Amino acid sequence: MTELLPDSPDTEASSRNKIPPEFYRTQHKLRLSYMPWLYFELKPVHREWAEDWQKNVQSYLTAVETVHVGKSCFIAPEAKLFAEPGRPIIIGDGSYIAADCVLHGPIKIGKNVSINHHVTMDGGRMGITIGDNSRIAANCQLYAFNHGNLPDTLICEQPIKSKGIAVGSDVWLGANVGVVDGVVISDHVIVGMSSQITRDVEAYKIIAGNPARIIGDRREKK
Ligand SMILES: CC(C)(COP(=O)(O)OP(=O)(O)OC[C@H]1O[C@@H](n2cnc3c(N)ncnc32)[C@H](O)[C@@H]1OP(=O)(O)O)[C@@H](O)C(=O)NCCC(=O)NCCS
Repeated sequence: MTELLPDSPDTEASSRNKIPPEFYRTQHKLRLSYMPWLYFELKPVHREWAEDWQKNVQSYLTAVETVHVGKSCFIAPEAKLFAEPGRPIIIGDGSYIAADCVLHGPIKIGKNVSINHHVTMDGGRMGITIGDNSRIAANCQLYAFNHGNLPDTLICEQPIKSKGIAVGSDVWLGANVGVVDGVVISDHVIVGMSSQITRDVEAYKIIAGNPARIIGDRREKK
């Protein structure tokens, strides 16, 4: 490792020369997969190969799953999308899905939405909707179903109930937020890191905690 440390320009240059150029492309793709906002800022020289790469990833997905992808989207090849007929995943223009996400339809994602790495969303029967311009940070978990809870039947044999989850526009879910089935999060809401949302949230509220409670209101921020 020591010889790779850039302790002097000479050392850095010589160690770079030992690395085959294709390794940089592989590493660049990985960087985009985990931080897709960089895809939208690529210089034209990189944008060209990256668009071809994305075309392949998206063509494969739309061929094998019921996935509809808008214009100028990015989907990391390391993301896992499952959408059987009748349980589509619809992705609006300019949105991205980062690496290691697991998405199971029905899910409708608006325009210019970020789904960061390791997000899990299962639409259950009724589905999940995310409004335009919302930000879903890493490791969020949205499950639009619950198992039944009758005392005399095994959990695994109880019917599954699903009401659906709705996330509005311009919403920011911080990292590691959980959302249970039936919740409606209105427009412009902010949710603090590691919060668990079990009740509907009114527009502009800032909420945090487990279970999440109101800690502020965006309209009062200067
Ligand atoms: C919620 C957040 C946005 C701050 O909002 P804010 O309105 O500026 O809130 P404040 O920092 O003034 O905190 C208000 C109160 O809420 C508490 N609080 C803030 N964030 C909290 C959280 N995530 N969980 C629990 N409590 C939290 C504070 O401790 C404070 O409590 P106090 O009044 O008893 O001291 C920020 O704390 C946060 O969680 N950001 C998410 C970061 C993230 O996930 N980034 C990922 C990259 S997208």
